[in-house]
Amino acid sequence: MLAIGSDHAGYELKVSVMKYLQDKGISYIDCGCNGERCDYPDIAKVTCEKITKGECDKAILICGTGIGISISANKIKGIRAALCQDYYTAKYTRLHNDANVLCMGGRVIGPGTAEEIVNVFLNTEFEGGRHADRVNKITALEEN
Ligand code: RB5
Repeated sequence: MLAIGSDHAGYELKVSVMKYLQDKGISYIDCGCNGERCDYPDIAKVTCEKITKGECDKAILICGTGIGISISANKIKGIRAALCQDYYTAKYTRLHNDANVLCMGGRVIGPGTAEEIVNVFLNTEFEGGRHADRVNKITALEEN
C-alpha cells in the first residue's frame, strides 16, 4: 500500500499522479490536501505516519519545489525521503538508498516526467550489499 500527500502547490500534480496510479491499478491512501492552502510539514507528518505506523511501505509527497516537504519528511524517524525530479535519481535512490518516500516538485516537473519517476521508484528493488551498510549508518544517525 502506498500513501500520497501534497500541499496546495503540489495538488495539481498529485491529482495527475493519483489518476496514473488508478490507471495502473495501484492502491493508495490520499493524505490530503484537497487543494486548500496548507503547510507542507503537516502533510509530510500525516503521510509519513502511514509508513511509521505500518499501514504503508512507501509514500509520495509533492509540494511546489519538493524541497520543503522532503526536508520535513526526513526529520521523521524511519523515513528516507528522496527529492527526485528525473528518472535517474528516482532509480538510484531505490537501488542505493532504499528510499521509502518519493518527493517531487509540482512547480518543477510535469505529469509525464512524474509518471516515469513514480513508475521506476515503485518498481525498483533495493540492491542491498554494501549499500545496506550505508543505509544502516543513516539509521544510526537518527540516534544521535
Ligand atoms: C508553497 O508556496 C511552497 O513554499 C511549498 O510548496 C514548497 O515549495 C516549499 O518548499
